[in-house]
Amino acid sequence: MYNNRENNIKPGNSENAIVPGGSIYGDERPMLEQILHLLETRVETLREKYRADDSDPVEHCLGRIKSERSMREKCRRRGLAETTESALQELHDAIGLRIVCAFVNDVYMMRDYMLSFDDVELVEEKDYIRRAKPNGYRSLHLIIRVQGKYYAEIQLRTISMDTWAALEHHMKYKKHVSGNTELLEAELKRCADELASTDLSMQTLRDMIRGEQSV
Ligand code: GTP
Ligand code: MG
Repeated sequence: MYNNRENNIKPGNSENAIVPGGSIYGDERPMLEQILHLLETRVETLREKYRADDSDPVEHCLGRIKSERSMREKCRRRGLAETTESALQELHDAIGLRIVCAFVNDVYMMRDYMLSFDDVELVEEKDYIRRAKPNGYRSLHLIIRVQGKYYAEIQLRTISMDTWAALEHHMKYKKHVSGNTELLEAELKRCADELASTDLSMQTLRDMIRGEQSV
């Protein structure tokens, strides 16, 4: 999803060229790139500020425009016509940003920061950190509207949550070859809960260390 292949898609590359009927994003593609760049720049600007005193809240940040293939496939799955209107107005994740932080508090700090701009409206928020999905998935998802028109999905999570999500994604993808899905799912769930507990302990430790430093 946010792998390198998708991150590097440029207008007119080979993947786009083989899609019949041209780009599903039509003339809007440059605007999507521009909005993504704007969001990435906001993250980078904040990071620069915090780097000055060695407290960058972000571990890494990945942005992508959803590939032609994924967007068309999602339209079909949702029973939508494969049009620019569906891709940009009915579906809300053509633009995607994933912000990964070391600590849980920083996830919420980055949430507030990303929502603090005058041209950003919060459309939907799903807090799978406070309320994990049954499989153990944790992450904070925001759907925002930028400049009154362009939707973007922002996923915010800790490094542990990110590592877990990548592994779980691989398992889903490879389900058909694995022999013991039930055991794998149960183990993944156990790991997710252990990681969440460790994330909280790490947060507490950091708060204590920072508290002690400021005395
Ligand atoms: P979509 O059809 O993907 O848009 O689902 P949704 O509209 O119900 O949105 P949701 O916020 O639940 O999920 C959006 C994205 O979060 C997905 O496309 C994945 O990238 C990620 N995600 C959600 N659930 C899981 C999960 O259980 N495992 C992993 N690895 N990723 C997930
Ligand atoms: Mg979605």
